[in-house]
Amino acid sequence: MGFIDEIKAKAKADKKTIVLPETMDKRTFEAAEKILKEGIADLVLIGTPEDIAKNGEGFDLSGATIVDPFNDPNKQKYIDKFVELRAKKGVTPESAKEQMEKDYMYYACLMCKCGDADGVVSGACHSTGNTIRPALQLLKTKPGIGSVSGFFLMEVPNCDLGANGLFIFADCAVNPDIDSAKLAEIAAVSADSFRSFIGDEPRVAMLSYSTMGSAKHDDVTKVQEAVKIAKENYPDLKLDGELQLDAALDETVAALKAPGSEVAGRANTLVFPSLEAGNIGYKLVQRLAKANAYGPMLQGLSMPVNDLSRGCSADDIVGVVAMTAVQAASAR
Ligand code: ACO
Repeated sequence: MGFIDEIKAKAKADKKTIVLPETMDKRTFEAAEKILKEGIADLVLIGTPEDIAKNGEGFDLSGATIVDPFNDPNKQKYIDKFVELRAKKGVTPESAKEQMEKDYMYYACLMCKCGDADGVVSGACHSTGNTIRPALQLLKTKPGIGSVSGFFLMEVPNCDLGANGLFIFADCAVNPDIDSAKLAEIAAVSADSFRSFIGDEPRVAMLSYSTMGSAKHDDVTKVQEAVKIAKENYPDLKLDGELQLDAALDETVAALKAPGSEVAGRANTLVFPSLEAGNIGYKLVQRLAKANAYGPMLQGLSMPVNDLSRGCSADDIVGVVAMTAVQAASAR
């Protein structure tokens, strides 16, 4: 069974309710039909009767809950929650209503916050920033977590590195400014993501262009500091650095550059030193190694919300919904 089939099986075994707010896009309906048919999750589709009729024409949506954001008996409850959460930021009942009607992502997050859904998948026709921002504002981080980050689960074909070709790459999607403390925290939450999706023991490599002090620069010092913080804060975590990518993955190089490390040469969770490196890195592996890149998945949020690439297919949406359902189950 391939990775995504295992995830779908896990999702079916503990069914969750996932909201799909992008009813302005046909791919949502194509994916919804498949998800409902396979029994991967219960679905809420947010949209007006006109959008549902126009874009959902021909798709079998029986079993989905349709929520019209202009005529929903629960709407006042969501407006009240929005105001409760954001009054200090100037949100009033009028502005809450307007925002929810203009941007269904807010509606979807409020449904989760009020316990009416377990997670959200969006981003087929919205930017990453616009997909993530409502979740950051309304759902916030898990207790004890300072910042949300984004990972990709990479499935590299014909590869015996990592966990038989499976890796977590982070942060590839969220934090443009990463300091040492944030990097250390990203290492710990990425290790948790590795455990919940792949099941093996995570071995976290803190990546750099330097291995164990081979280069000197502020960028290298940032990663060295992150390693120090992570080792202090998470003493049970198998983590090492700073490591170059070859030292992280290749046992021969690791033996030369980082002898004695329990991570070098066997890393399966790669923490990149910056958003540029992470974002470019996952795309390189996806394009050149023809890897499946599942994500960007968000980690550290109090409830799962996940972004889609704007070039995604309906099958990609099905996969991300299954992963979101698994995150919801493991969060509980
Ligand atoms: N973790 C937790 N909370 C956060 C984070 C974070 N990483 N970043 C921002 N927040 C909170 C802020 O504290 C703020 O909370 P508040 O309103 O209660 O005070 C709220 O989120 C909004 O923060 P802003 O800084 O005003 O939001 P901003 O507009 O800067 O958006 C965002 C944050 C969307 C994450 C931004 O940093 C961003 O756009 N990141 C890059 C996304 C991107 O383009 N990725 C690459 C593409 S993805 C791909 O290729 C697959």
